[in-house]
Amino acid sequence: MNTKHIVIAGAGTMGYSMAQIFAKYNFDVTIYDLKDEAIQNARNRIQENTKILIEEHELTIEEENKLHQHLTYTTDKSCFKNCDLVVESIIENVEIKQSFYKGISKIVREDTILATNTSGISINTLALAVYKPERFIGMHWFNPSHLILLIEIIKGDYTLESVAQAVKDLSIQIGKKPVIVQKDVLGFAANRIQFAVLREALYLVEQGVISKEDIDAVMKYGLGFRYACLGPLEVADFGGLDTFYHISNYLMEDLCNDTKVPHELAECYESGHFGIKTQQGFYDYHDGKDHEAIKNRDDQLLKLYNALYK
Ligand SMILES: NC(=O)c1ccc[n+]([C@@H]2O[C@H](COP(=O)([O-])OP(=O)(O)OC[C@H]3O[C@@H](n4cnc5c(N)ncnc54)[C@H](O)[C@@H]3O)[C@@H](O)[C@H]2O)c1
Repeated sequence: MNTKHIVIAGAGTMGYSMAQIFAKYNFDVTIYDLKDEAIQNARNRIQENTKILIEEHELTIEEENKLHQHLTYTTDKSCFKNCDLVVESIIENVEIKQSFYKGISKIVREDTILATNTSGISINTLALAVYKPERFIGMHWFNPSHLILLIEIIKGDYTLESVAQAVKDLSIQIGKKPVIVQKDVLGFAANRIQFAVLREALYLVEQGVISKEDIDAVMKYGLGFRYACLGPLEVADFGGLDTFYHISNYLMEDLCNDTKVPHELAECYESGHFGIKTQQGFYDYHDGKDHEAIKNRDDQLLKLYNALYK
């Protein structure tokens, strides 16, 4: 694939930062959204981000100017007419995404690759709405996408191998670490693991085994810290598979295997406590603690990123 022009559809939390990364690597990027407000917001967020990067000496003023020259913002669907790749990052709703693809896949060229940033909706289900689904694929990024290297590339039943390879090559070109998920399963690989961890963590808190602060500490200072360097299979190899076998023998059947939304999560959801964005989640983020928490997260992740990958 000779990719020059990319359209990012959906200018929200993920869309603007993905656009920023592609622009940094000299791709011409159009950011498309239904709403003017979202477009304006994306423009502001990218400008704020690049200023921070300059302050941190991660970007020069010349690079910043060049980056902005590669970006176009629009609410006009004609932007889809002549692009090489669309990365769709609109709201996580099957019907809305399908309706988007029904319209867009007939506007784009027949060789334009269509990639979805869905967090876990079946690629095959979305493909039902795509004209020529052999060029349709999952390209799942992680927030904050300027710092997290992983991109999951998910093949649907119709996806051509050459399309998967092209998206993989492109991901490497923009400095990412792509993995190919060979089969279309709900949640793909990363969210299946993330939600298995969340289920067990909330179960232990609900059972009064450990506090929420301490379960987060278990991950931050123990498992998560090690996972930054070793995957779970490598950890097992280092620990000794005989030991892991014996632990599995008594522990597997004791782990939480509930199939419903965890009680504590449902309770927060029903009370409108959605986390940082509403200043209340499992923790309290009122009185400026939300901004402090985001800054702290980004500072820590940047330090880790620089320590491991720079
Ligand atoms: N937020 C995350 O941490 C995260 C991480 C990985 C993947 N994702 C996935 O990325 C996608 C976007 O998530 P987000 O968090 O950026 O959402 P968001 O709500 O911040 O942004 C979605 C944007 O899509 C726009 N939109 C909605 N319908 C549209 C349409 N038909 N055409 C064009 N624009 C439309 C909205 O106006 C909004 O600006 C979802 O599929 C989500 O699951 C999110």
